[in-house]
Amino acid sequence: MSTRFSSRPTELLGIDRIPELLDKRLVFVTGKGGVGKTTVAVALGLRAAAAGKRTIVCEVAAQENASRFFAHTEVGFHEVEMEENLWAISIDPDESMREYVLLQLKVRAMRDMLFRSRFFSYLAAATPGLKELVTIGKIWELAQLDRKVKKGRKYDLVIVDAPATGHGIGFLQTPRTFANIARVGPIHSQAQQLERLIVDQEHTGTAIVALPEEMPVNESATLERELRTEVGVAVDRVYLNGLYPERFTAAEAERLAALAAGENGAVRAAARAAVSEHGRARSQRAQLARLRRRVEAPVKTLPFVFAPELGVEGARELAGKLR
Ligand SMILES: Nc1ncnc2c1ncn2[C@@H]1O[C@H](COP(=O)(O)OP(=O)(O)OP(=O)(O)O)[C@@H](O)[C@H]1O
Ligand SMILES: [Mg+2]
Repeated sequence: MSTRFSSRPTELLGIDRIPELLDKRLVFVTGKGGVGKTTVAVALGLRAAAAGKRTIVCEVAAQENASRFFAHTEVGFHEVEMEENLWAISIDPDESMREYVLLQLKVRAMRDMLFRSRFFSYLAAATPGLKELVTIGKIWELAQLDRKVKKGRKYDLVIVDAPATGHGIGFLQTPRTFANIARVGPIHSQAQQLERLIVDQEHTGTAIVALPEEMPVNESATLERELRTEVGVAVDRVYLNGLYPERFTAAEAERLAALAAGENGAVRAAARAAVSEHGRARSQRAQLARLRRRVEAPVKTLPFVFAPELGVEGARELAGKLR
């Protein structure tokens, strides 16, 4: 068992339900690089755990993401308990492949040969997408209620901190791609099984994370369309992350603008900073309105958390604000 956080202010979290999203069994948190996917995945995990769901947050290998929130606990290819009801795992494709082969192949000599010959490394190098496929295979395994792996726990909810969508929607499309390439045989049927899980809109969903700026809003709208039409996965939420507070009314902003043009140096500098932040908050509201017009999923906002580094307490603050 791992270290736990001493006090969990669950009662401070609004632990009401987030229907359509946390009632599912598997949720992919997706979006462009750096928009806050990991932060939102951890916040969703904290929220679900606080509501009593046994939850696991999965990071996809070598991303070094969700685990940084829990600095004192080492997360690897093991299910590590972070807090009550909350586990984390870093999915390593090599380990996933190994586990899979061990479960499938009963002939010991054969297994030994495969591992000794660095079989998977060669195969992975020669087969684009294979790492993604076995990663999704492990996610599927985690979401099963009758897990075959030793000491496999049952989870109510699996949250995936998905890779950035820099390369399109590739990750979630991998099973279909493989099912199409391998027309028959075990790869075909297993890829099909994974594909069925992804498009199972009753149990599987996605949340897109976006930033309140023009390009990211455009990209999120495109991403939603592709996820819906090309992948066939449910898009349950779009989180507009990092929204600045609106601190001033229009009248106050006008007075600030006058001060920003004034004579007094110190006042002028402070007023300029305030005017600039006000401008940013306003343009973010405009982007929020654009996003709402352009996507079908409910758009919910998350505030910018003013902290030097967003640790688990920052994520917990956001967890309480998730809708
Ligand atoms: N609401 C917020 N308020 C303040 N800072 C935030 C917020 N959300 C995220 N951040 C910060 O923004 C940075 C990027 O967030 P995060 O790592 O969650 O993004 P990501 O989408 O997972 O990035 P990557 O694509 O690199 O994995 C981090 O430093 C994080 O602490
Ligand atoms: Mg991340």
